[in-house]
Amino acid sequence: MSSLPSRATVYEVGLRDGLQNEARLVPTSEKLALVHALLGTGLRRLEATSFVSPKWIPQLGDADELARELPPSSGVDFGALVPNVRGLKRALRYPQITTVAVFLSASETHNRHNVNRSIAESLKGFAEVIPAARAAGRDVRAYVSTVWGCPFEGQVDPKKALDIAVELHRLGATQISLGDTIGIGNPGQIARLCELFLERLPAGALALHLHDTRGTALANALMGLMAGITTFDASVGGMGGCPYAPGASGNLATEDLVYMLHGLDIETGIDLSKLVDAGLVARRVAGRDLPGRYLTAAVAERRVARAKAEANRGA
Ligand code: HMG
Ligand code: MG
Repeated sequence: MSSLPSRATVYEVGLRDGLQNEARLVPTSEKLALVHALLGTGLRRLEATSFVSPKWIPQLGDADELARELPPSSGVDFGALVPNVRGLKRALRYPQITTVAVFLSASETHNRHNVNRSIAESLKGFAEVIPAARAAGRDVRAYVSTVWGCPFEGQVDPKKALDIAVELHRLGATQISLGDTIGIGNPGQIARLCELFLERLPAGALALHLHDTRGTALANALMGLMAGITTFDASVGGMGGCPYAPGASGNLATEDLVYMLHGLDIETGIDLSKLVDAGLVARRVAGRDLPGRYLTAAVAERRVARAKAEANRGA
């Protein structure tokens, strides 16, 4: 316990990674209702949308409409994915988008499925995108997907993922988020790879992006914390997946992560009860129950409390 940090940052990706994978095409007004619910929780970093091709990700085809309506000067850092210079130019129209995130995979086949180009072609494009974004005063995050396994190629060479991460950092990305895109990493593998990455990158430049396909995401986050990593991506209610990674399920649920962090006396600045309120908005927006375990338990507890209160009123 003494080796754990006193503070951690939760990077909320539900509006992007969650909604991009929901079957329902959510109207912009409902997304904005979720933005406002999340703003009330104390979260300081929210990934709002993606400036990608609407043909590839129709769920986020309203990125411009949404970005235009994001509250200015909210004190919250809004992020958005950009795949290329065209995406960056769109993002730069909105001063509220203070972070842009480039993304690529550590495995060729997944990269090809996701962005229709090779890893080398992606990196060549980012050599233009990252410095341009920094010159425009935006922070740059970079995702490396399929670090713990690829849905098409299976095992991925960790050294290849590491070389990509180091190159993205060299190009000017301040944080590299390591993606377990298909939720296949187990705690031992997370610990080993964190150690490997930390040999060449500072802990502050790394984040973990864990999907919970096999129920290991929370244990994996704990291993990351123990290794020294303090930023974790998560999505409200556990919404999410990757449309170009068959079988990938939701991200680590934000409430589950925050419950664990607070239980370890690690400050997040987040109010868990308000996060549950936001989770209820997310359920309405998604139009389905969400897999987050803490949210499911809290909903049941609130139902029992309401029934008791009604019974007391009737007595
Ligand atoms: P392409 O078809 O190879 O490229 O797509 P293109 O340059 O020929 O463009 C095709 C069309 O898209 C053209 O329009 C372009 O103008 C347009 P058309 O002439 O056919 O009408 N276009 C754009 N439109 C709007 N904004 C843009 C843009 N760029 C081109 N920025 C491309 C290449 C990269 C655009 C496409 O493959 C794409 O958008 N892919 C996005 C895939 C994606 O968003 N995947 C999910 C996010 S990654 C993820 O979830 C993993 C992560 O969570 C981490 C983890 O879990 O590991 C981050
Ligand atoms: Mg993801």
